[in-house]
Amino acid sequence: MAAQSEWYSIIGSSMSGRLAGKVAVVTGGASGIGEGIVRRFSTEGARVLLADLDEANGTAIAAECGAEFVTLDVTSVESWQALETKTKADFGRLDIMVNNAGIVSNLDITAVTLEVWQRLINVNLTGVMLGCQTAISLMRGHPAGETGSIINMASSTSYLAIPDVAYTTSKAGVVGLTKSVAVHCANEGFNIRCNSIHPGATLTAILKTAIEQMPEVEEACKRMSPLNRMGTVEEVAAMAVFLASDEASFCTGGQYAVEGGTVSQHPRM
Ligand SMILES: NC(=O)c1ccc[n+]([C@@H]2O[C@H](COP(=O)([O-])OP(=O)(O)OC[C@H]3O[C@@H](n4cnc5c(N)ncnc54)[C@H](O)[C@@H]3O)[C@@H](O)[C@H]2O)c1
Repeated sequence: MAAQSEWYSIIGSSMSGRLAGKVAVVTGGASGIGEGIVRRFSTEGARVLLADLDEANGTAIAAECGAEFVTLDVTSVESWQALETKTKADFGRLDIMVNNAGIVSNLDITAVTLEVWQRLINVNLTGVMLGCQTAISLMRGHPAGETGSIINMASSTSYLAIPDVAYTTSKAGVVGLTKSVAVHCANEGFNIRCNSIHPGATLTAILKTAIEQMPEVEEACKRMSPLNRMGTVEEVAAMAVFLASDEASFCTGGQYAVEGGTVSQHPRM
């Protein structure tokens, strides 16, 4: 596995420009996987709107990589409308929407409350649906015709359940949502593709905190993959670049795993 500095030198020397001239929105771009996607998309020549609730981190990351920060609450229709208006006014187009913002609850079916359930489903599933609606509306007005790429962040938990019932349900839901959007756009004759990415355990702030509190979590996360390690945000971002680029022109309605074989391995082997 390449170290982070090696990744960016590989990208910088031989792969930049795969998204040249494209306009992208990345939700949840102020941390973790979303941050990795913002950084990589910027390196690849995209003009990126980093959309997040976290203004402090979002503004700092955007400034570092030449992106722009916008405050967005993915659960709010008004917030999405403001983003749509801004994107139209500033760029006149949208090429890529990454619906990445997500939260966890760590509560099983016996412990989850209606309030926690509704909050998580609002962020992880309804937020993605509103992001798809906004993307389609903007992409239908693209100067090159009805075209664009929507990428929804799902999880290996779309297929393999964990006790966090609202999270597992939300990520299974993202698969159906993604396929429905893909099929609708194709049937309408739009060149608007919609795919989901399914990361396995990826070393971001959520997991770093859990490992600090419970060191055994690190080994457990590594064992999820037959490669015996966690993924990195750069590895997930690499898949996002492919799906966002014109190289993925025949990919729609698909589920793209970045999980080191996690769901391929029988758990008792
Ligand atoms: N880290 C993993 O192991 C892993 C594995 C599989 C899938 N995922 C998925 O990847 C995505 C990113 O996860 P991460 O680990 O980078 O998380 P993270 O906590 O590091 O980042 C999530 C970002 O989303 C933002 N956010 C939360 N609620 C929001 C809202 N209502 N509106 C706008 N922004 C909001 C947060 O401010 C934060 O910047 C999530 O959808 C997560 O479910 C993560």
